[in-house]
Amino acid sequence: GKVAVMLGGYSAEREVSLKSGMAVLKALVAKGIDAHAFDPAAHDLHELIEERYERVFIALHGRGGEDGSMQGALEVLEMPYTGSGVLGCALAMDKVRCKQIWHALQLPTAPWRVVRASELDQVDGEILLEELGGRVIVKPAREGSSIGMSIADTAERLTSALKHAVQFDEQVLVEKWIKGKEYTIALLDNNALPVIRLETPHEFYDFEAKYQANDTLYHCPSGLDNDDEAYLKNLAEDAFKAVDGKGWGRIDVMRSNDGHWYLLEANTVPGMTEKSLVPMAAKASGIDFGELVQRILAQTLE
Ligand code: DAL
Ligand code: MG
Repeated sequence: GKVAVMLGGYSAEREVSLKSGMAVLKALVAKGIDAHAFDPAAHDLHELIEERYERVFIALHGRGGEDGSMQGALEVLEMPYTGSGVLGCALAMDKVRCKQIWHALQLPTAPWRVVRASELDQVDGEILLEELGGRVIVKPAREGSSIGMSIADTAERLTSALKHAVQFDEQVLVEKWIKGKEYTIALLDNNALPVIRLETPHEFYDFEAKYQANDTLYHCPSGLDNDDEAYLKNLAEDAFKAVDGKGWGRIDVMRSNDGHWYLLEANTVPGMTEKSLVPMAAKASGIDFGELVQRILAQTLE
């Protein structure tokens, strides 16, 4: 049957989604599947019914695509779609709720505070920094691709980081900065793929390091010993399940220099661009891009 590859959308990650979606579309068409691009910013969802689409591959990132709202609309239309459902997407999109659940389940995540836009004037930067170890990373609660994020280690920098972040979300996560190494774990059919370690000369793995820089290093195999690799894969599977993630996704993690693990966030529609991590991890386990998208699409039939 006819497949809509949803891409673009209205979020701050629109451009990334256009790349992910076009890569997915091309791969599906190459497999002989009757797939077509569908940008919800340009088309009414009722066209899915009128044009007799049978299922949807969601390649939308960020709000309106990865946060449960599109998933809810497709449920109402009785249109099968890839990946996590309404609850999983809504929880994973919200870094604060995600951390609250992990923390409640005793899964490791760095200490944090929440600041709302309405509370900005009441924040005592010195105290907040002191409570969180002197250096923090400030993140809009519901964004992706590191948009709106910055590091702060002085009250002055914290004030501007908060002001910047509230432009993207009225809720902001202030998280203790974990100095160490960054890892990511792709999940396919709910199983962890080989771990990737990321290395960037930037202060953190920011938007430019993700999509533009050519000095970002990707290590897969990750360089972890077998026990650590197995532990991390298990942790990622548990973390994904905890927020009701389904089908495919990606969990991002830090390891501090003294060896502790910290879950950063869950992504229910991770990037599928040529620089993206899920395709890289799939390839490392012998699954090429075409097979990867086919397997994700097959989830709509379950
Ligand atoms: N939010 C981007 C697309 C990612 O997680 O890959
Ligand atoms: Mg994310």
